[in-house]
Amino acid sequence: MGDSDRERLRETFTQDAELYERARPGYPVAMFDDLAEVACIGSGCGVLEIGCGTGQATVPLAEWGCRIVAVELGAAMAEIARRKLSRFHQAEVVVSSFEDWPLPERPFDVVLSATAFHWIDPYVRVDKSANAMRVGGTLATINTHHIAGGSDAFFREVQECYERFDSKTPKGITLPHSSHVLRDSAELDDSERFGPVRFFRYERDIEYTTEQYLDLLRTYSGHRDLAPDVLSGLLDCIGTLIDTRHGSHVTKRYLTELRVAHRVK
Ligand SMILES: C[S@@+](CC[C@H](N)C(=O)[O-])C[C@H]1O[C@@H](n2cnc3c(N)ncnc32)[C@H](O)[C@@H]1O
Repeated sequence: MGDSDRERLRETFTQDAELYERARPGYPVAMFDDLAEVACIGSGCGVLEIGCGTGQATVPLAEWGCRIVAVELGAAMAEIARRKLSRFHQAEVVVSSFEDWPLPERPFDVVLSATAFHWIDPYVRVDKSANAMRVGGTLATINTHHIAGGSDAFFREVQECYERFDSKTPKGITLPHSSHVLRDSAELDDSERFGPVRFFRYERDIEYTTEQYLDLLRTYSGHRDLAPDVLSGLLDCIGTLIDTRHGSHVTKRYLTELRVAHRVK
């Protein structure tokens, strides 16, 4: 993705922050347990979160007792995160791009970014994250992948709606099996600042009614970026497909991936 696409698309989430908060599924509890095993997560630990959104990963970290500074680009997203974090006095949300945010002098123990690291300038994110933490600190990034499974027939058939309404859709693409999703550590391997990279993976099936599924799609930057008539035709097509052929319910399989590395220099 080029710089201008990234900068345009990353601003779409805050256009309807309440929808994002309602429709996005949050993260598996087991992921925070694993994170706590490999990183300083708990009372007194300093966490910098990049792109906290509405706080879907931030609240569980605050519940673990972490001292958190969360840097979020979208004002409306940050407002919801602040509301959800209001009972935690050790959590602060700052509205800024991570690239422009001046690092505080006191280093963090953990820098975490949940479904947001790929929105940060690739020339900045690894080094600036390293600079934000003490040596031995942890960089934890979380990625969400859409994989084969759940309502397989629906996901095969829905491709026709995308090909019909969005001319940029490649022909005949299918969701990958989880074993085909590559563990991508290149940017950390290439940097001399971090040691060996570890991955943890979690698969979940989530069932949606037609309206819930359409709301979820309305939160994706690629969908939000479509022209209004294209989006509305696409969502009508998908809604009709779910209602007429899939009993008004679909099950979507998610692969959540936690990637962890420790700062060595
Ligand atoms: C897909 S959302 C993830 C939000 C949240 N971490 C979650 O897991 O639900 C990506 C978030 O990153 C934020 N973001 C994108 N680019 C950013 C940047 N350069 N600096 C700070 N936040 C950024 C967006 O505003 C959005 O809230």
